[in-house]
Amino acid sequence: MMKLYKRVAIATLLVLQAGILFAEDGHQLWLRMPLAANIVKIVVDSPQIDETSPKYQPIAIAREELELYVNSNVEIHLAVDAAAPADDGFSITKNGNSIFIKSASAQGLLYGTYHLIRLQTIGKTLKNGQSIVEKPTSSLRLLNHWDNLNGTIERGFAGRSIFWSNKGDIIDQNETLLIEYARANASIGINGTVLNNVNASPQMLTSERIDQTKRIAKILDPYGIKVYLSVNFASPRALGDVSTADPLDPDVIRWWQNKVKEIYDAIPNFGGFLVKANSEGEPGPQDFGRTHVDGANMLADALKPYGGIVMWRAFVYAANSPDRACQAYEEFMPFDGKFRDNVILQVKNGPVDFQPREPIHPLFYSMKHTKVMPEFQITQEYLGESVHSVFLAPMWKELTDVFKMTEGVAGVSNIGDSQNWCGSDMAQANWYAFGRLAWNQNLTSQEIADEWIKQTFTTNKKFVDPVKKVMLGSHEACVKYMMPMGIHHIFAGGHHYGPEPWYAPRGLRADWTPPYYHKADEFGMGFDRTTNGSNNVSQYPEPLASQYNDIRRCPEKYLLWFHHVGWTQKLTCGETLWNRLCHIYDEGVREAESFYTTWQKMAPYIDAERYEQLRIRYERQAKDAWWWRDACLLYFQTFSKLPFPKDCPPARHDLETLKKYHLAIDNYTAAPIDQLP
Ligand code: GCU
Repeated sequence: MMKLYKRVAIATLLVLQAGILFAEDGHQLWLRMPLAANIVKIVVDSPQIDETSPKYQPIAIAREELELYVNSNVEIHLAVDAAAPADDGFSITKNGNSIFIKSASAQGLLYGTYHLIRLQTIGKTLKNGQSIVEKPTSSLRLLNHWDNLNGTIERGFAGRSIFWSNKGDIIDQNETLLIEYARANASIGINGTVLNNVNASPQMLTSERIDQTKRIAKILDPYGIKVYLSVNFASPRALGDVSTADPLDPDVIRWWQNKVKEIYDAIPNFGGFLVKANSEGEPGPQDFGRTHVDGANMLADALKPYGGIVMWRAFVYAANSPDRACQAYEEFMPFDGKFRDNVILQVKNGPVDFQPREPIHPLFYSMKHTKVMPEFQITQEYLGESVHSVFLAPMWKELTDVFKMTEGVAGVSNIGDSQNWCGSDMAQANWYAFGRLAWNQNLTSQEIADEWIKQTFTTNKKFVDPVKKVMLGSHEACVKYMMPMGIHHIFAGGHHYGPEPWYAPRGLRADWTPPYYHKADEFGMGFDRTTNGSNNVSQYPEPLASQYNDIRRCPEKYLLWFHHVGWTQKLTCGETLWNRLCHIYDEGVREAESFYTTWQKMAPYIDAERYEQLRIRYERQAKDAWWWRDACLLYFQTFSKLPFPKDCPPARHDLETLKKYHLAIDNYTAAPIDQLP
């Protein structure tokens, strides 16, 4: 298997050495290390190890990676040692001319190997006598692919699925790609992957699809990547001879037990199920008068004998609810402590839905007797798709700074079959950051950006410093030009790229329209979630509840999330709401423009292909920022009836035109906006 890499790597080296210009397509991600000039000696210190046995395959891979990429005259010793760090952890020690990588497992040695190579690539060589110990924060570090069996990807902006297709079998065709996928994930510590969309087709559990899953699992396994599946709760009825999917029905229970057995017979190290139940029209136990606990525990019992788990999603909200942000807490808190120990509640970072900024989901503070894992969205459904360059580590840190992700963490993948995997080279940074934070949630956004840039582009300071600054400012800038001050969900209907705060077709569910969230009126705007409003604040522990409830103490970034504020009301910053809103939208535009200016100076330092691919995107992002600002401010102005403050430039567009054009994009090319007015 690894022979393949050797061939690819050697071919690359020959091309480079011959001085032939090599077209960069971003496919190598952050794994662009040059081949070592020397061959290091690798010694496996554990005599009991047979590197050809499946159990020790990670060691064979580690050996190969070290031989190819460690550029130093050292001898590297690998040892599986019960006294060394366990649970995927490892230690690396430099002693004279020897480097010792030790772990309680073969998999830990592979992680240690990638860590050593990473340190070398970013120029952090070990000093003599120095020792590093690493142990992952989260035991489950999973990607969630929202891939459909026909090959499309829900909220995917990078082409089609690398796993599934309608037209025959793409697994054989994609074998090399899947090895590369596994290797990239292992290099950042990801150890599991859910292969299909949470809006799951019952077809996923047919014998044919299980067989395909088995073949995928076999390719990913040597790299320590377990496979999991999203399941449709009504599968027994949809596929089986059972007339119901009631989780307390003996036939249904038996159906699931048999299905689980079939899966484990095919894939002995299968991970378990991810379930979206009674959410956005998906079936669930409530359809049969049962509860989330009934549903989750029934599946958990079926999986238990094999060591499998259930990740049960808390993303639930019903139509006609007065406040969608309250629902998951209301539905799940009463069940705290009632789930089996192999059930993990999978909770989105915020209580609404992966918005550019949300307060932390209240369940993270309150669920004390249930296993909880956060779900982040790596794919930029609400953050400019694969066009806007928005580095998400700072956003995720808002949660990881207050919640320890011991059980696990899931990230909705941004991977497709596009040549550079993610549609944009910058979007690769979010896949990378997710893995690194899952491994070590104490890493800072700066550290992650720094190591990613150095591995992916160059270690040249003239590139690293300005690009890092752009990346670190990009999330805040995006929040400013899209939805500052706690505004949320004012996206276009149908897709979530452009702004349509006015979107409210007659008859559509209110909570699927922006006015439900911004509540702009003649008096002001914002969602009153105080004790006088929906009382969402009371789902938070003190002192947060009181702080969010008090308009003078509520952080400005959440102001309109928790309060309906008058247009001319003076804020703690001294400005009125209207003026502050105008100024922040404006800042967002200026920042997006400065990103483009910075990027244009980066041409001398990197390859022309990736430079240009991103130049187009940064240009488009700056133009879109104007579009967002104008659309939002001009629309809210129809309520505030106030002029822009003097120091705010006039709008570039007029509201009528903005309403006429649907700001969408061709995801793969980020077509210029110039055709638009
Ligand atoms: C969002 C997204 C849907 C997705 C859902 C989920 O609402 O737009 O496409 O299915 O989240 O997380 O289940």
